[in-house]
Order: sequence, then C-alpha cells, then structure tokens
Amino acid sequence: MRTPLIAGNWKMHKTLRESVAFATALAARAGALPSVDLLIAPTAPALAAVAAAVEGHRIGVAAQNVHWEREGAFTGEMSAPMICDTGATWVIVGHSERRQLFGETDETIARKVRAALTARLTPIVCIGETLAERDAAETLVVLDRQVQRGIDGVTGTELAGLVIAYEPVWAIGTGRTASPAQAQEAHAHIRQRLTQWFGVEASAACRILYGGSVKPDNARTLLDHPDIDGALVGGASLDLDAFLAIAGAATRAA
Ligand code: 13P
Repeated sequence: MRTPLIAGNWKMHKTLRESVAFATALAARAGALPSVDLLIAPTAPALAAVAAAVEGHRIGVAAQNVHWEREGAFTGEMSAPMICDTGATWVIVGHSERRQLFGETDETIARKVRAALTARLTPIVCIGETLAERDAAETLVVLDRQVQRGIDGVTGTELAGLVIAYEPVWAIGTGRTASPAQAQEAHAHIRQRLTQWFGVEASAACRILYGGSVKPDNARTLLDHPDIDGALVGGASLDLDAFLAIAGAATRAA
C-alpha cells in the first residue's frame, strides 16, 4: 500500500523568515495527519533553516533542482551532496518550468536523477505534456519518452523509492486542472509502463503524484483514484491552511 504524499513546491516564493515560519507552523500541525507523508520544497537559501525547523517531524524537505556534478566551475548551481548537507533529503528534478525556461532535457534530467540517487536524495521526477501535445493526441507517447529517458539507468530497487510527478504543462498555474479521469488515465499508463520495464513489485511501490492547479476543493476527487498517490502542489502550497486541507483530503482518500 502506497502512503499518500502531499508535496508543496514553493517555486521562487517566500523569504527566509516566511519559509521558517511556515515550516514551524506546519510541524506543529502535521501530527494530526499521521497517514499522509508531507514534504515542502523551499528556495535554496531557505533549505537549511527549513530542514532545521522540521527536524524530528515527519516532514520531508526538498530542493527544487540539482546539478549532476559533485563540485566544479558551474556558477549558480548546487550539487546533490551540498543539498544533503542542508538536511534536505529530497529533490525535484525536471519540473516543466525548468524544461521550458531553463532548457533542461530528458538527458540532463537522467544525469540529475543519477546524482541524486548516488547522494541518497530521493528524486521527484516531473513529466507532463504541453497543450499542443495533448491536442495532437501525443500525451501517452510524450509520457513514455520522458519516463523512459528521465529514469534511464535506474534499477528496480531505486524505482521503488523514487517518486514520479505527472504535471500536464497546461494545468500548471492556470487554474485548469486535468479531470480526475484524465489524470488517472495518465497515471495508470505510466504505472503500466513501469511494470513492463521494472516488474510488478517495483512499479507497485513507486508513488505517482499529480500536479497542476491542485486546490483544497479538487484534491479529494483526484486523490480518490487508485493510481494517484498524492499531489505536487504549487500555488495552494504557499498557504498553510490550503496545504493542510489538501493533505486532509489525502488522508480521507487513503
Ligand atoms: P500549481 O499548483 O500552481 O498549478 O503548480 C503546480 C506545480 O507546478 C507544482 O510543481
């Protein structure tokens, strides 16, 4: 049985002070949600302080990006061991904003996934089609390509521990959510592929999150579906009550 995971991707939001205040308040209230895993992904400058604020609580902390090299002349980048040093144990890899705005490719994403796993960070690997790809009925082909190339070289044991996030690009920050049926179709397809490539056991253990305009009022209907194992939440994760309401919906759907 997969424990639901509700992850908040703060993107480029919140100052250090705001991040720590949120994390401290979340830690105080997270005990009421024992059957759901919670995770927050603050900006890089807030990682260490947020990790310290939630220490001893069942709250994961994720970086939003990672470089594949351990160190070197890569201005502006940070490596997986450096992220571990902050106390964070997760990392988001291949978010569509990074693919679209910063030129990330399936190949660089695979290198980042490998670097994360080597450093014992858990990657959340993001995939998802654009509106043009959906309209051209290419969604499942795009997902196949992104999953296959993005986790190239991953073993079955590693797959069981990592997380995939299906985030249709057209649903991110637009208020336009994939319908629960569209999301479940994509998730079931991804799981079927994972089963084909890695076997039933590893595929059944791998959590697949949905992301794209998840809000307290639509979370329950999405999370009720068997292959939707949680949510990667952007905008609504910036508000503690909204984030907790989504986590509450996951608890009830579990
Ligand atoms: P929104 O929830 O703001 O649509 O963002 C989703 C997302 O990109 C999470 O990574």
